Amino acid sequence: MNINNYKTYISAETMMGPNSVRILAELLDKYPLRLAPDDRVLDLGCGKGLTSLIIAKETGAKVFANDLWISAEENAKRFNEWGIGERITPVCKDANNLDFEKEQFRVLVSIDSYHYFAGSKGFFQEKILPFMRDDGVVLIGIPGLKEEYTGCAKELLSDWLGEDAHMFKGPKLWKELIGSSDRIDTVDTWEMDCFGEAWNDWLTTDNKFALDDKKHFESIIKPYTCFVGIYVRLKKAL
Ligand SMILES: C[S@@+](CC[C@H](N)C(=O)[O-])C[C@H]1O[C@@H](n2cnc3c(N)ncnc32)[C@H](O)[C@@H]1O
Repeated sequence: MNINNYKTYISAETMMGPNSVRILAELLDKYPLRLAPDDRVLDLGCGKGLTSLIIAKETGAKVFANDLWISAEENAKRFNEWGIGERITPVCKDANNLDFEKEQFRVLVSIDSYHYFAGSKGFFQEKILPFMRDDGVVLIGIPGLKEEYTGCAKELLSDWLGEDAHMFKGPKLWKELIGSSDRIDTVDTWEMDCFGEAWNDWLTTDNKFALDDKKHFESIIKPYTCFVGIYVRLKKAL
């Protein structure tokens, strides 16, 4: 996917952290999606919907853009302004209590949000799997700890993140947290390549949260953290 096609949408107003478009692009380059127009994709923790827009445009599928902090009304307005309102359904639900129709999503994408709500064992099986179709795919990109520092989040990140430091974990721990199931075929977790560029895009905006992150980038964020990629493929129907 060519990120330059989406430059006009990426701004201090639509970004909520390191550039989600770069994180999504890396996931889609590594695991390309070939979807039909009636396939459904859940963008979980979509924020202001940048990634939902791109998934709809790149795959042609129908997207459900779910977020907790950003209302469905606000996202609907933005999707309509972007001319994509008919293909994206905005939803405002807590990921812990989703009530979609079961086994409907061919793909789940979650960028820079899964760590907020899914850091306990069994979450994937209880809260995500029921909504996924057989042969489905899950693509997640989240900030985490470099493998060598996993388990040390509190000591290393508290000056930057305070109480939220515990959400940052390394790729191996995320693989364990996704866990297993008789519906899961493959789980792959890795340290992503887009770290420098995605952070640079964010830190060069004048968003007030970016200004705070900037203070900690060289001393904490760059030496200890990374983006963790998570790929899950589900088994085909028997
Ligand atoms: C840092 S923002 C990232 C948003 C967007 N994915 C992006 O990369 O620009 C984290 C998002 O996670 C969402 N989130 C946090 N906890 C959530 C929960 N329990 N259920 C659904 N979304 C949640 C928030 O609403 C927020 O928009």
